[in-house]
Amino acid sequence: MGTDKAEELKEIAQEIRELKESPLYPYRRRHGYLPVPGVGSAEADIMLIGEAPGRQEAEAGRPFVGKAGEVLDQLLESLDLDREDVYITNVVKDRPPGNRDPRADEIEVYAPFLLREIAIVEPVAIGSLGRFATDFVLKRYAQRGHGRTMDDLHGRVLRGDAPHGEVRIVPLYHPAAVFYNRELEEIIQEDFQVLAQYV
Ligand code: URA
Repeated sequence: MGTDKAEELKEIAQEIRELKESPLYPYRRRHGYLPVPGVGSAEADIMLIGEAPGRQEAEAGRPFVGKAGEVLDQLLESLDLDREDVYITNVVKDRPPGNRDPRADEIEVYAPFLLREIAIVEPVAIGSLGRFATDFVLKRYAQRGHGRTMDDLHGRVLRGDAPHGEVRIVPLYHPAAVFYNRELEEIIQEDFQVLAQYV
């Protein structure tokens, strides 16, 4: 079941591996890092989109395997979900040097891959983790919410028009945000429950 979609996602992963024109490719090669394509169910109703891989992700070639991943796993568990029940990916598929914010040209280079992942998986709801993922999906699919801060948007449900039809966009604080502001922990947990209706 879902073989075609899974195959298409594999093709994307392969293209990302070969993406020599990425401004992050030389850094990847120099450090022996791996690119980080999306993982999870090609049939998922919920897609979670992060910002960019960190060091541990670039070493493993998988998203959210570090400390932020532990937070994400707890959030999924609170909805009785495993990673295999959702699709997890990032806006940018290679680690930016020193975990700096991704630059606009980097986001542009990887944008076609994320747009294709969304078109293939056809999620009912997208949980956008942090401002880069939130900006990305709102700018492309939603009428409202552009340019608003995460403080304004987190935990709300915005309607988006994606190529596969209507999609609910749920902006969420990035799981790593709790390391800088412990008060966000409870808020993230609460906001994440909004996704329960799309399971
Ligand atoms: N932060 C992200 O945004 N993505 C990852 O894959 C890991 C940490």
